[in-house]
Amino acid sequence: MKIDILTLFPKMFDGFLSESIIKRAIENKKVTINIYDIRDFSKGPHKKVDDYSYGGGAGMVLMPQPIFDAVDYLKTSDSFVILVTPQGHTYKQSLAKFLLQKKHLIIICGHYEGFDERIRTLADMEISIGDYILTGGELASMVISDSIIRLIDGVITRESYENDSFTDNLLDYPVYTKPYDFRGMKVPDILLSGHHENINKWRREEQIKKTQERRPDLLEKSDIYGE
Ligand code: ADE
Repeated sequence: MKIDILTLFPKMFDGFLSESIIKRAIENKKVTINIYDIRDFSKGPHKKVDDYSYGGGAGMVLMPQPIFDAVDYLKTSDSFVILVTPQGHTYKQSLAKFLLQKKHLIIICGHYEGFDERIRTLADMEISIGDYILTGGELASMVISDSIIRLIDGVITRESYENDSFTDNLLDYPVYTKPYDFRGMKVPDILLSGHHENINKWRREEQIKKTQERRPDLLEKSDIYGE
């Protein structure tokens, strides 16, 4: 998979690309990530990328020209163009799985007070990562990329994500490591029993219990009721 990200702040991605699982996925050629500076596509004087809002109003608005030219430059028949904006579809695990099927993602990060409305026509999908406002789309594009990359075959072990929270619309079961007794809090005995069938049953029950307590809304969509 290839992910091209269009941003006004390329340095924000330095840490994301150079640490941990994402770094390893890039080194192992599981994913190619290119960060493009929107300014480099500006044809305006001084690489101008924004201007005042027609009709007045606070803040500068991202101009269409640099973004249209960048997308023209990057887009192929395999591309899927995402615009990250608070007005988009709310992001969730099922959307990460849908995007995993794409060969090439182009993610446009909005910034400042907004972007020219005509930029929306470039997007195959608009995505929001939640009902709150960030200073720009950069963090949102990293959240989306991260959630997809970890699902690519061979990036992490299948076991690591098969029981993830939200797979089957259930939250994850509790896990424990050493020591057995920490400050009086003991590991549930079932986990030391060595009986895998019972352990799996217990884990499933814990998933359901936790989801009932914390996210009952998810249970309506879950297949535990035999949907
Ligand atoms: N840009 C600003 N806020 C955002 C959000 N919540 N999701 C996606 N992009 C954004």
